[in-house]
Amino acid sequence: MTKAGGLSLPDAFRIVLAIETSCDDTSVAIVAHDGRVLANVSASQDEAHRPFGGVVPEIASRNHTYHLLPLVDRALETAKLGWDKIDGIVVTSAPGLIGSLLVGVVTAKTLALAKNKPFIGINHLEGHLLAPFLRDDTYAPPPDFTYPYVGLAISGGHTSLYRIDGLGEYEVLGQTVDDAAGEAFDKFAKMAGLGFPGGVRVDQIARTGDPRAFAFPRAMIHEDNFMLSFSGLKTAAQKVLSTMDDDERARRLPDLCASYQEAIVDVLVDRLARASRSEGLVRAVLTGGVSANSRLRVRAESWAAAAGVQLVVPPIRYCTDNAAMIGYAGILRLNRGERSEQSLGPSPKAPLGRRREGVRAPGIRRL
Ligand code: KG4
Ligand code: ZN
Repeated sequence: MTKAGGLSLPDAFRIVLAIETSCDDTSVAIVAHDGRVLANVSASQDEAHRPFGGVVPEIASRNHTYHLLPLVDRALETAKLGWDKIDGIVVTSAPGLIGSLLVGVVTAKTLALAKNKPFIGINHLEGHLLAPFLRDDTYAPPPDFTYPYVGLAISGGHTSLYRIDGLGEYEVLGQTVDDAAGEAFDKFAKMAGLGFPGGVRVDQIARTGDPRAFAFPRAMIHEDNFMLSFSGLKTAAQKVLSTMDDDERARRLPDLCASYQEAIVDVLVDRLARASRSEGLVRAVLTGGVSANSRLRVRAESWAAAAGVQLVVPPIRYCTDNAAMIGYAGILRLNRGERSEQSLGPSPKAPLGRRREGVRAPGIRRL
């Protein structure tokens, strides 16, 4: 044991408890230093936000306070571990909804003090980008998978393309200038009356539709950069929907979903392919909730096979928001000697990594 800042610290961190509350899912995980997930338990708030057609920040933070401590107990029970086996505490401290982040950060700091454990705050996007290294009884990364790789983080709050050269070595190659890909799915689903969150519904309905039935725009696809934009697509879909009566909408719904989805998938696969080609990288990762999309998986896999690229898409439980990915990023950093102070607060807009020259900052948005 060593002494630092008045705390007794283990010389190496073997197991951490991690908390993720950056948006609307509450999640707690217990993760080992090699990426093994010993527990990963979550509470979804979809039911609470459904009547409003989107995430309501006040409701999200209030629900985190109900769910978080019971989930901490459940994670320890699932892993069959007591607090004596937990070497440190990890929490998502940026970016996200401020009230939601605050619940996680204050709880992590309190547990760290009460249990006399070191703790660290982690950027949510770092968790998403490192998710392929997690492992459990049914998933392990390919044995030869390693840095460097291109990582496309796609969810309801972010659409960012990264070059990842190692822990803490992240460069933003491109990102959306307006809506995130998941937001584009959810907004279309709302317009078409499919409920919230709509991405998965669009995916299901699109399976019986024709992706070429409607010619929706693929913004910026001819530009030789890695930027993305989805707001024009949303407007185009709105126009098409406004010309249809209820019967026609219902009849054409599969074609509408398939065409809209194809426009998003085309752009995402194009940017991923362009980045890996121009960076000369032979490994790529899809991560974030939208990587659950079945059409995207098929299209990205066929691109990767043709291009000779090793594509890793973590299982859905590690693609959607989860504490396991946060725990893994945290234990790597704790083992490098990094710690957070009790003065740590949430940073709702903190970016991750440096931005490649010419990459425009996105507008202010929900994360
Ligand atoms: O990563 P995530 O769970 O939470 C955020 O950080 O946002 O991603 C949620 C997003 C939502 O926008 C949801 O509609 C989208 O991922 N999503 C999908 C699918 N499953 C989830 N989008 C398209 N197809 C899917 N199968
Ligand atoms: Zn996320």
